[in-house]
Amino acid sequence: MKDFTNKWVLVTGAGSGIGRETARAFAAKGGRLLLVDVNDEGSEQTRRMIADAGGEARVFHADVSDAGAMQALAEQIHGEIPAVDVLVNNAGIGSAGRFLDVSLETWRRVVDINVMGVVHGCHYFLPRMVERGSGHVVNIASAAAFLAMPDMPAYASSKFAVLGLSESLRSDMAEYGIGVSAICPGIINTPIVSTAIMEGEMAGRDSTRQRIVDLYQKRNYTPEQVARAVLRAVRTNTGVKPVSPESWAMYYSKRLMPGLVSRLTRRGSPLSE
Ligand SMILES: NC(=O)c1ccc[n+]([C@@H]2O[C@H](COP(=O)([O-])OP(=O)(O)OC[C@H]3O[C@@H](n4cnc5c(N)ncnc54)[C@H](O)[C@@H]3O)[C@@H](O)[C@H]2O)c1
Repeated sequence: MKDFTNKWVLVTGAGSGIGRETARAFAAKGGRLLLVDVNDEGSEQTRRMIADAGGEARVFHADVSDAGAMQALAEQIHGEIPAVDVLVNNAGIGSAGRFLDVSLETWRRVVDINVMGVVHGCHYFLPRMVERGSGHVVNIASAAAFLAMPDMPAYASSKFAVLGLSESLRSDMAEYGIGVSAICPGIINTPIVSTAIMEGEMAGRDSTRQRIVDLYQKRNYTPEQVARAVLRAVRTNTGVKPVSPESWAMYYSKRLMPGLVSRLTRRGSPLSE
């Protein structure tokens, strides 16, 4: 898909960070945006930003982990348009803590939002795209889908799943003329760390969250840069797209030097500190 003029673009998690900037970037190219989030205030801010720039966007409240809510959302949208053109499954949450400290409640929450949220988006919106025979699905995975650090078992597992689902879907959907891209951003300066679930040592040390927030801010790789990568991936129908230099480094090092990477990511090694 080369031109986004008048294309219907649905973005989940559009009320903040990467989702907001992706929505704004599509709107700036003429897309008509359907903004989905549980944070209505955030979505409304995104809508206003788009409207102020002369674009078109509407706000929908839905929890991506709730199949019923996603079904109702799809019915409402398909009552007005035949199919979305671009589906961006972006909503997600962070989670940090070593395996022995991560509760089952956290596992369920992370899997429900980060994995089942993507499954629900595809389940309820893809059939109409298939019927029409065109469209593109963007799933926001992570560099954690390449390299699983010891402090994020639930998050990394969820993003490995998103990458696996995207690869499977890409092969499956090609015959219907539907592209699928997995985007693997890297460390991006958004509010995700401030809302991430932290357990065990990560929660215990008062300064941990702030230290990571500071690291993300200092790195300052922006969600706008990710948004540009998303649009490029759709235009070129790229399957897997690492975005920041760290993400590219993780992508290649895991493939070329898996033994070294596994030593470097072990607890106590410089990379895991
Ligand atoms: N920031 C990073 O460093 C980074 C890196 C790699 C991947 N990602 C991924 O990018 C995506 C967006 O993250 P971000 O950094 O922009 O975070 P963010 O916290 O700024 O935005 C996430 C948005 O998703 C929404 N959301 C959360 N749970 C939801 C639910 N159940 N239903 C609907 N909306 C929900 C939130 O309200 C929020 O508006 C996530 O999937 C995240 O895992 C982020």
